[in-house]
Order: sequence, then structure tokens, then C-alpha cells
Amino acid sequence: MDFILPFLARWVHIVSGMIVLGGMLFAALALLPGLKGSATEQSMGDTIAARFRPWFLLGVLGLLVSGFYNYYRHVVAKDVPSMYHMIFGMKFLLALHVFAVGYLALGHNKPKRARLIGGVVISGLVVVVLSNWMRVLSLEALMHPIVLPAIK
Ligand code: HEM
Repeated sequence: MDFILPFLARWVHIVSGMIVLGGMLFAALALLPGLKGSATEQSMGDTIAARFRPWFLLGVLGLLVSGFYNYYRHVVAKDVPSMYHMIFGMKFLLALHVFAVGYLALGHNKPKRARLIGGVVISGLVVVVLSNWMRVLSLEALMHPIVLPAIK
């Protein structure tokens, strides 16, 4: 039964990432270009942003709770190299950029919405690259654990 919490945390993390980054990617690639130039561009943009905002916030909450839980597990188990913590630091800062600028972009009456969302998408994609790197490092550490010599 020990696997249930890590299993659930991984599911929550991935689904929350899909909501936050997936929503922003959809807006950048299809929604905003589709609305561009139409008479209702601003009002439709505001309505859609207001609809998405609670889901975005829920996704952020899911990412933070599951992310800190995942990280805590590795820290407690001391099973990852120091490089892992460095990458985590960079990932966390970029994730904060995604959360803060994403939240701003979902505000009311934002003429620069497309630019803000473009920045969120770029940071979000880098966050996924760093996450992959962390995953490789933690799997690597699992397969080849560091065996410290016994202190006599
Ligand atoms: C834009 C926000 C974020 C995105 C898109 C994202 C995405 C991901 C993805 C795709 C994975 C790999 C999942 C897997 O294979 O199990 C992952 C793992 C992870 N994430 Fe995030 N994440 C985000 C924010 C965060 C935050 C805020 C934290 C910490 C508070 C965090 C901590 C972690 C940890 C510790 C792992 C485990 C890495 C490992 O396998 O060792 N993430 N994340």
C-alpha cells in the first residue's frame, strides 16, 4: 500500500501540469490567433480567461502540493545527487514565473495577453525539460544507488 500516495501524487502532478500548461498552449496556438482581429476579441478574451482562471488556480495548487510532496520524498530518502537539487531550484523559479504571469494573463482587460501567454508557454516548456532531467537523475539514482563506505 506504500505506493498509493506516490502514485496519486504523480497523477495529480501530471494532470495539474496538463491543465496549467495545456490550457496556456491551447490559448497561444489556437484560441488567441482565432480571436485576433474580431470585433469581440477583447470581450471574448475576458470571458474565456475568467472561465479558465479557477481551473488554472486549481492546477497551480495541485502542482505545488504534489510537487513539494515528490521533492520531500527524494530529500528524505537522500537518494538523489546534489545536481538534482540545483535543477529543482531552477525549475521552481521558472514554475513561479508560469504561475505569476499566467495569473496576470487571465486578468480582465489585458491588451498584452498574447505576449504574456507566449512567455508562460516558453517557461512552461523549459520547466518540462528540467522535470525530465530530474526524472532521469532520480531513476538513475534508483538503479545505481550511491553506496557510501561504512565509517569505522
Ligand atoms: C508549470 C509547472 C510545472 C510543470 C509543467 C511540471 C511538470 C512536471 C513533469 C512533467 C514531471 C515529470 C512527472 C513524472 O514523470 O513523474 C514533474 C516532476 C516533478 N515535479 Fe513538476 N512541474 C511543475 C511544477 C512543479 C513545482 C511547483 C514543483 C515543486 C514544488 C515540482 C516538483 C516536481 C518534482 C519533485 C518532480 C519529480 C521529479 C522526479 O521524477 O524525480 N513541479 N513535473
